[in-house]
Amino acid sequence: MKSFQNKVAAITGAGSGIGRALAINLAGQGCALALSDVNSAGLAETAKACEAKGVKVTQTKVDVANRDAIYAWAEASAKAHGQINLVFNNAGVALGAAVDGMKFEDFRWIMDINFWGVVHGSQAFLPYLKASGDGHIINISSIFGIIGVPSQSAYNASKFAVRGFTEALRIELDMAKSPVSTTCVHPGGIKTNIARAARFDDNMKALIGQEAEQGKARFEKMFITTPETAAETILKGVRRNSRRVLIGPDAVAVDLMQRLLPTGYQKLVGLGTKLQMSKGK
Ligand SMILES: NC(=O)c1ccc[n+]([C@@H]2O[C@H](COP(=O)([O-])OP(=O)(O)OC[C@H]3O[C@@H](n4cnc5c(N)ncnc54)[C@H](O)[C@@H]3O)[C@@H](O)[C@H]2O)c1
Repeated sequence: MKSFQNKVAAITGAGSGIGRALAINLAGQGCALALSDVNSAGLAETAKACEAKGVKVTQTKVDVANRDAIYAWAEASAKAHGQINLVFNNAGVALGAAVDGMKFEDFRWIMDINFWGVVHGSQAFLPYLKASGDGHIINISSIFGIIGVPSQSAYNASKFAVRGFTEALRIELDMAKSPVSTTCVHPGGIKTNIARAARFDDNMKALIGQEAEQGKARFEKMFITTPETAAETILKGVRRNSRRVLIGPDAVAVDLMQRLLPTGYQKLVGLGTKLQMSKGK
């Protein structure tokens, strides 16, 4: 897809952060938008900013963990806009918890949103993307979809799963010579609300020696890229039909580390985490 003008994009988690920045960037390029989020207030703010750029915008409260709700939203969006060219499966949450003692309900919560939300969005929109003749599925994984990190096992599992799902789907679509393509996105630390909105289990303290609030602040220190730059990088990747998009110098460095030390990186990450903890004390 070389241009977004007169195209229609559906975005989940559009009420904040990367989703909002994608929406505003696309609106500025003449792309109509079907926006969704569980947070109606954030969603309305994003919609207002996009409408101000003169494009058609629809907004729907959708929980991506709810498969029926996503299917209903996809159908309604296609009807309202006449076509759908792009879906950004972006909505996501974070969880800090050690495996030893992690609550199953927290693990299920994050998988329902970060993994199943992406599967529901990809499958629900695929028929409309095909019908458009020029479609693209953009699934947001993470640099934590490339390496494992202590306290992030559930988030890691959800984001590694998004990568596997998206890469397999891309091969299937290529083999079928489909008019639809996919891009898997791996952001490094982006300055958004994700850490503030995260669940942090008390059992983190035994693992990293920090209370939840300290743990969130430690993560936020690693956020170095703006959501606007993230959106620009993602859209450049879509125009190039990239299979994988890394966002930020941190993501590029971590990806390189994983390639050079496919398993050896684990010792480095453990040492780095201990070092950070001792500095934080
Ligand atoms: N910020 C980072 O450092 C970073 C790094 C790597 C990957 N990511 C990924 O980027 C994506 C966007 O996150 P962000 O950083 O912009 O965070 P954010 O918290 O600013 O935005 C996430 C949005 O998703 C929405 N959301 C949460 N649960 C939902 C649900 N069940 N259904 C629908 N919407 C829901 C929230 O209301 C929010 O508006 C996520 O998938 C996240 O995992 C972020």
